[in-house]
Amino acid sequence: MTGSEIPSQFFWIVALLLGFKFYLKLRTGICRSTNRMDGKTVIVTGANTGIGKETARDLARRGAKVILACRNLEKGYRARVDIVASTGNNMVEVRHLDLSSLGSVRRFANSIINTEPRLDVLINNAGAAGFKNKMTADNLQLGMQVNHFGPFLLTCLLLGLLKKSAPSRIVMLSSWLHKTAKFDLYNLNFEKWFDTLQVYSCSKLANILTANELSRKLKETGVTANSVHPGVVLTDVWRHLPKIVKLPFILMARLYFKNAVEGAQTSIYLAVSEEVTGVSGKYFENCEESKLSKAAMDETLAKNLWEKSEVMVGLSPEEIHF
Ligand SMILES: NC(=O)c1ccc[n+]([C@@H]2O[C@H](COP(=O)([O-])OP(=O)(O)OC[C@H]3O[C@@H](n4cnc5c(N)ncnc54)[C@H](OP(=O)(O)O)[C@@H]3O)[C@@H](O)[C@H]2O)c1
Repeated sequence: MTGSEIPSQFFWIVALLLGFKFYLKLRTGICRSTNRMDGKTVIVTGANTGIGKETARDLARRGAKVILACRNLEKGYRARVDIVASTGNNMVEVRHLDLSSLGSVRRFANSIINTEPRLDVLINNAGAAGFKNKMTADNLQLGMQVNHFGPFLLTCLLLGLLKKSAPSRIVMLSSWLHKTAKFDLYNLNFEKWFDTLQVYSCSKLANILTANELSRKLKETGVTANSVHPGVVLTDVWRHLPKIVKLPFILMARLYFKNAVEGAQTSIYLAVSEEVTGVSGKYFENCEESKLSKAAMDETLAKNLWEKSEVMVGLSPEEIHF
């Protein structure tokens, strides 16, 4: 290699890396809607950090009453202080919700039903990865409960209020990783085999199947249900990565991942934009409709998952208001 080749190769590598970064920036969808949310009530689960916090901040800025549903109240109150200071909107509330406990989900839902006259948008944002092979006190696999069973129960319990407030919207945070799911309806608790990444992928596929089944069940009610891949976003969701890969990972993530504000754009778009009025049962990425895996489009699978989930979370027919 000659001396003049090194700088020219270096130049091309840097140009390629910058070009890729520029391409990703161009692809990032931004919610352009200027719609206000005055008089509307929104719940954002997992709103103390990451995508949920930035979603909550944006909706508060638009004048909505925003309920931050958090498992850690201290973190929730800190997020509230920050959101109120940056938006000037005082109507930001913190309530306790731990999705790994069906009792907590029921208590949260009851507190909303007993105190809120309306619910315009429910954003099922909370989620996590890196779960161990552990069962909860409700006898459900921990990751499946936090990412699927908990949000499923919460949504079912709030359907009556959402219907009463129609037109209203349900937004489910899923992930592109749903495409890698080896989904087995008879292994929802991962008792036959366990793989931590599969727990995440399968739960994220379950989010889409739930949103799609909801869209069919809620036809003609004015309540829509859509799902989102927020992009690859630098947030606390990566906190479980092994220490050895963390540093190079964070360096790369800072260069190429979306930040939390960018990651929140598609959730905000589905919550406020007039472009998606009446749109239901769709999957969005970068503020536009995106392609689903074959399994995610499977209506029979969605129906069967719904029926199994109802039984597994102990929902009685009187509790669901379609
Ligand atoms: N970041 C990405 O690249 C990416 C990509 C695809 C999809 N997503 C999805 O986007 C959503 C938001 O993730 P994020 O990236 O913003 O992650 P994050 O910063 O880790 O935020 C996740 C939120 O969920 C909460 N949460 C976790 N377990 C909970 C539980 N048992 N009960 C109630 N809340 C709980 C967390 O609370 P604590 O702070 O108390 O833990 C936190 O507020 C998730 O559903 C995630 O799967 C993210």
